[in-house]
Amino acid sequence: MQKSLSPRIGVFDSGIGGLTVLKSLQQRLPEAHFVYYADSQNAPYGALDGGTLLAYSERIVQYLIRREVDLIVVACNTVTTEVIDQLRALYPLPFVGIEPAIKPATRGAQNKSIGVLATARTLQSKGYQRTRDEYAKSFKVIERPGIGLVEEIEKGVFDSPELIRLVQSFVDDFERQPIDTLVLGCTHYILIKPLFERLFATPVTLLDANEAVARRTQEIAKPAEEVFQMVECYTSGSTELLEAVVKYLDIAFVRSIEALTL
Ligand code: DGL
Repeated sequence: MQKSLSPRIGVFDSGIGGLTVLKSLQQRLPEAHFVYYADSQNAPYGALDGGTLLAYSERIVQYLIRREVDLIVVACNTVTTEVIDQLRALYPLPFVGIEPAIKPATRGAQNKSIGVLATARTLQSKGYQRTRDEYAKSFKVIERPGIGLVEEIEKGVFDSPELIRLVQSFVDDFERQPIDTLVLGCTHYILIKPLFERLFATPVTLLDANEAVARRTQEIAKPAEEVFQMVECYTSGSTELLEAVVKYLDIAFVRSIEALTL
């Protein structure tokens, strides 16, 4: 009898942020074979128009399909909220996306005031606005585009004076509102969650959707009949950067980290 392999899961983002999603996925699906693509050369995605975003995403999706993945996790809020419906219509495999954690935020907030930090494109997208209007109607939602954050985070230094200054300016703004819950609506921001925790003087709950994405992926991934723990990473940018973040997040079973321009 032919032995079926463990699930092969493609994961992609505009850069290193999606590695935080990969980390959550690996905790839930340690038997899976992951192929990760970081499009760091084209980051940030957050300021791109819909057409360009779709074109970049399609190139990556086509590559992952050539690598025979069973499903694709879009580890990018910007791609999910803007073009995942189009990707689903164009390609015949399941997609799991990530969106700002608005729904869980409405459970946690006590003063009915929720901050959402995401890319400009995410905040303007119909996908995000639909979710917000459905779940957070009776809440005060304070939205801020994280201008400049992805560029700083992509430098791979998570405590540089420039980054601290930038994050402090967002924190000060949210503290003036004030908010009690902050949704980190871009996977890059999860890499600097400790910095947000350090800079907020008032207690604020920081939320992201990584665990929800991992749960959903586990639900639809085909059951493993064989343990085949492996992660392959590719980047259109710096392999050193990808390697440093893989180490920082302590991602296991990484077989290769290679440069690949699509
Ligand atoms: N990490 C991505 C997100 O979750 C994209 C950030 C960007 O490239 O602007 O939105």
